[in-house]
Amino acid sequence: MQDSHNRVQWVYGSTTNQELEQRYDQWAAEYDQDLEQEFAWNAPDNAARVLAALVPPGAAILDAGAGTGLAGQRLAAAGFTSIAAMDISQGMLDEARRKNVYNAFHQMTMGETLGFDTGEFDAVISVGVFTLGHAPIHSFDELVRVTKPGGYIVFSLRTDMVADGYQDYFNTLEAANKWKLAQVTDPFRPMPRGEPEVHHQVWAFQVL
Ligand SMILES: C[S@@+](CC[C@H](N)C(=O)[O-])C[C@H]1O[C@@H](n2cnc3c(N)ncnc32)[C@H](O)[C@@H]1O
Repeated sequence: MQDSHNRVQWVYGSTTNQELEQRYDQWAAEYDQDLEQEFAWNAPDNAARVLAALVPPGAAILDAGAGTGLAGQRLAAAGFTSIAAMDISQGMLDEARRKNVYNAFHQMTMGETLGFDTGEFDAVISVGVFTLGHAPIHSFDELVRVTKPGGYIVFSLRTDMVADGYQDYFNTLEAANKWKLAQVTDPFRPMPRGEPEVHHQVWAFQVL
């Protein structure tokens, strides 16, 4: 496998879900070292902070694209005790299990129908998952379905991708009374040491 800088580009370049899953399975053991230690990846902190200000700690949370569990760790530190991890990569879920902050693990694929009940969760958090070669935009339909009315969907998104169909999709869901915008943060650098030119925002929508 390549070095840490190329590994990020390598997963972005996945052309099928199978390739994406295999690449994350291979990266799983070194992901925290690469992203957290080397790149100073801070999107999980920023997203968890937004969610914690909107939802009480007793809430049932789905971490969609949980990866190795960095967002779950931040939520647990903020007092959350009911957090389910879902990811396409079993290798990433195995790493997440070692964090001891999740009470359920699900290997599922965003973009497909999710094996959860309608309104099963009070909130969804999804960090670093809506990006090149990862979850498709229409994954939001299922995230809306599995979130209780009044609950929240909180996610990070690159600022330069908002106009690539995301804003239109957000507007479509809003026009259909599926959700409304609750909050969007100022842009920040999610990988200040690795890719300082990249900016993200954390978006929060309330499901109606
Ligand atoms: C950049 S990592 C982010 C992981 C974690 N949320 C974090 O902030 O560190 C993206 C994660 O999304 C998962 N993922 C990508 N596409 C997915 C999909 N369609 N369905 C489920 N998980 C997906 C990957 O396996 C990977 O664990």
